[in-house]
Amino acid sequence: MTAGVDPVKLMKQEVGKAAADRVQSGTIVGLGTGSTTAYTIQFLGDRLKSSELKDIVGIPTSFQAAVLAKQYGIPLTTLDAVDHIDIAIDGADEVDPQKNLIKGGGAAHTREKIVDYLADQFIVVVDSSKIVDRLGSSFAVPVEVIPMAISPVMRAIEKLGGKPELRMGVKKAGPVITDQGNMVVDVRFDSIDNPAELEKTLNNIPGVLENGIFVGVTDLVLIGEVQDGKPVV
Ligand code: 5RP
Repeated sequence: MTAGVDPVKLMKQEVGKAAADRVQSGTIVGLGTGSTTAYTIQFLGDRLKSSELKDIVGIPTSFQAAVLAKQYGIPLTTLDAVDHIDIAIDGADEVDPQKNLIKGGGAAHTREKIVDYLADQFIVVVDSSKIVDRLGSSFAVPVEVIPMAISPVMRAIEKLGGKPELRMGVKKAGPVITDQGNMVVDVRFDSIDNPAELEKTLNNIPGVLENGIFVGVTDLVLIGEVQDGKPVV
């Protein structure tokens, strides 16, 4: 291992690379958002550069993923130009034993849900700290809300028993604004007994665009761990 390099960072690199290695030539690839999938995008670029991988096109799940893809030479397309996605690789904030997820730590869950649900194969890349027995144990549920509806949506969420908090940006100078121009409310629940039902209930509140609960869509979870100071996938 390289001296002085953070083992968690190395582990994220390893798990990001393991996912990138599963991508085959000639495929349409959903490109996730976050610090782990940033490595996947980087390694996909490396594989293209070395010609080991050919003719892939990416569908980014965020402005951030699109910028990284361009930086690493991955050609991009849109959902208007393709009729399917072969494989999507994305991070997560929590993963339960049924491979249900909470996503949206990077406020990108709306586009992530569109892309990840369309993929024939959806691979999640996480470190072992994201594995939980029950969703909501350590992470709040991100809910993207149209700005004019922030107050009524927060009241409706409180009626459901949730504790909503408007997500603020760096230095708390203003709210986080999503790629769609909306805001994010992070909602804590005492216990999420039925993720599928909560996902639907939240999305039924007028003004909610999408929430970060992903149910029944994950095919494979690649988990990175640091063992004896070394990264393992
Ligand atoms: C962004 C996400 C990310 O995939 C999630 O937050 C995990 O990110 P990281 O790999 O940086 O831990 O859902 O909206």
